[in-house]
Amino acid sequence: MYSSTLFPPKIHYLSLGASCISVAISAILVLLYTILYSHGCTQSFVPFNPIDLQWSSSTDDINSATNISHIKFILASSEKTLKSRRPYIESWWQPNGTRGNIFLDSPPSNDFLPWPSSYPPFQVNEDVKKLRVYPKLVVPAAVRLFRSILETFRLEDDEDVRCEYYYIGMTSEAVKSNFDFSFDMAYGGAGYALSYSLVETLVPVIDDCIERYAYLRVSDQLLSSCLADLGVDITLEKGFHQIDLLGDISGLLSSHWQSPVVSLHHLDGIDPIFPSNNRYESMNHLMKATKFDQSRLLQQTICYHRATNWSFTVSWGYSVHIYESLIPRSILRKPLEMFKPFKKSATPPLYMFDTRSPWEDDPSCQAPHVFFLESVGTDGGGFVNTTYRRASRPNLSSCSSSGNHSAEHIDYVRVVLQATRRKQARPSISTSLHI
Ligand SMILES: *[C@@H]1O[C@H](CO)[C@@H](O)[C@H](O)[C@H]1NC(C)=O
Ligand SMILES: *[C@@H]1O[C@H](CO)[C@@H](O)[C@H](O)[C@H]1NC(C)=O
Ligand SMILES: *[C@@H]1O[C@H](CO)[C@@H](O)[C@H](O)[C@H]1NC(C)=O
Ligand SMILES: *[C@@H]1O[C@H](CO)[C@@H](O)[C@H](O)[C@H]1NC(C)=O
Ligand SMILES: *[C@@H]1O[C@H](CO)[C@@H](O)[C@H](O)[C@H]1NC(C)=O
Ligand SMILES: *[C@@H]1O[C@H](CO)[C@@H](O)[C@H](O)[C@H]1NC(C)=O
Repeated sequence: MYSSTLFPPKIHYLSLGASCISVAISAILVLLYTILYSHGCTQSFVPFNPIDLQWSSSTDDINSATNISHIKFILASSEKTLKSRRPYIESWWQPNGTRGNIFLDSPPSNDFLPWPSSYPPFQVNEDVKKLRVYPKLVVPAAVRLFRSILETFRLEDDEDVRCEYYYIGMTSEAVKSNFDFSFDMAYGGAGYALSYSLVETLVPVIDDCIERYAYLRVSDQLLSSCLADLGVDITLEKGFHQIDLLGDISGLLSSHWQSPVVSLHHLDGIDPIFPSNNRYESMNHLMKATKFDQSRLLQQTICYHRATNWSFTVSWGYSVHIYESLIPRSILRKPLEMFKPFKKSATPPLYMFDTRSPWEDDPSCQAPHVFFLESVGTDGGGFVNTTYRRASRPNLSSCSSSGNHSAEHIDYVRVVLQATRRKQARPSISTSLHI
């Protein structure tokens, strides 16, 4: 079965000057939630190596294209939550590749010493108690997190970079979260990116903003308010995932929109994304595919097999779904709603995107056979092969209106992809699917 359009040629494309993305703030909410909801709620965050976001340089000079070395990561954490984050951070942090620091509220205890080299170097945040505004602060920890931007900037050499102001991130999946916090704010659990020039402009006014907004409870609100006052609004980038959801998000990840995946947050609140692995193993498993091709990870592609009236959706590096009927893309792109709202008190509308529930109406034709990534490999001959193994075997009759072509006997699906150069902005792709 062949399809020339399995993977869209368009890769996300933003025109930024080289070296512009110098500061990326990540996991800001990690500590925050631990403090606001300290009844054992644990947070976690995994960003994918962002180099394949393809920030193109304004001169189109490939040598000056932004790469991982131009990004500075700020991870905001706390001494208390560090331990449970470690496997997540180690799944993506590349010693001597990624740059940045992990900020803590107090020096690491002996449990963490000697500090592992597999880990971002730590910094202890300055004490917010010394701020004049301290008595007025509603949530001092939010200010501690916010000031990590300032403290990181002070660690930097003057980079003498001139570029535009960019505040890049994504809102929450949950209508209620956006309603409660803001629809114009990047959610720091998912992470966000600030261009170097913007940080340069922000840093001198950070403490003024903190005075003005001492009543705000969340560092992301502090940042977005402060930036709004500087005239800078968010640039939405759909690859950042706050995951303000609970339960099984495999339907969401299997209908990922065509944007590069940048991050996943709240991993401890959801089921392991691969049902046969635990949460940490799941992240490492997903990361295996990124070693071959980050730009395609998760992005959903769809094809049809006329001889059987089957529809296939491939979420590259993650899952394959087979439907025993021809279902248009306009339907298949909607995530299967297997997750639950993040807040029990939420009332519809719950989500910021369309969903579908195929089990209610004609499931034998509308519900998929589900396969999850088993292995990824290359034969060195220009192919990247991924294999997806059947996870669930729904006890459903075959879809009679499409000709009774059962897919029950399919145990695995292999997707063969012609390898492309990682940095190519517009790969020409031919893909085949072997079942
Ligand atoms: C990143 O770009 C710089 C030039 O700005 C270059 O010196 C460096 O080798 C590049 N690193 C990678 C990993 O491509
Ligand atoms: C990182 O680089 C330093 C100095 O070049 C080297 O000593 C160290 O072994 C490297 N660490 C890793 C994990 O590659
Ligand atoms: C990948 O797929 C190609 C084409 O089907 C096949 O020739 C090759 O042996 C496969 N390689 C691996 C490692 O499975
Ligand atoms: C599958 O469904 C049929 C009838 O719908 C039932 O007789 C059979 O026991 C079911 N099999 C399993 C494994 O649940
Ligand atoms: C596919 O389904 C249509 C009805 O939707 C049916 O008319 C046709 O015969 C089916 N094709 C095959 C190969 O079963
Ligand atoms: C599919 O099977 C059902 C019962 O198993 C039967 O009633 C129906 O006519 C079949 N449809 C086709 C197109 O063969």
